Amino acid sequence: MVPYLNQIIKETLRLHPTGPFLFPRLCRESVVLAGYMVPVEIHIVINAWAIMRNPIYWEDPESFRPERFDESAADFRAANFEFIPFGGGRRVCPGMQFAMASIWCSLAHLLFYFDWELPQQKRPQELDIEEDLNLTLTQKMIYA
Ligand code: HEM
Repeated sequence: MVPYLNQIIKETLRLHPTGPFLFPRLCRESVVLAGYMVPVEIHIVINAWAIMRNPIYWEDPESFRPERFDESAADFRAANFEFIPFGGGRRVCPGMQFAMASIWCSLAHLLFYFDWELPQQKRPQELDIEEDLNLTLTQKMIYA
């Protein structure tokens, strides 16, 4: 149960990262990346949301499949740059451990103490989880 809960949290953060764009970086020297010239002093915004749904790195990327982290060595320390819900490098989220402990503890309690079901006998596939892409990722239906 414990490892599976970790996999669920990872898969949730992969598909729905709290911060879809990392903080901007300033390019310190001109470089050609993937055929694109990136000039010095330009600001770069990294789209973590897109990287974590890129089919080059993720099999069946749109599916919620926590089991995928069973095989994958991806962790939060951004050694694997395809999985960066907390960013990476010098500006990696310093609250990462605290965030993980809080999510883990709250989720474990919610699952242990309550019996969950969807309203109006809805099936999970019918649940509207469409997102609003902003500075932070929110659910559209909350504001509807
Ligand atoms: C699920 C929870 C959280 C997620 C997904 C998250 C994600 C992120 C991301 C993606 C960044 C940008 C990293 C980068 O650009 O490389 C960031 C930065 C940051 N986070 Fe978090 N964070 C979370 C919780 C927290 C918590 C609980 C704290 C503090 C207690 C925190 C404090 C910070 C700070 C101070 C920065 C700026 C670091 C810097 O610019 O040097 N975060 N976070």
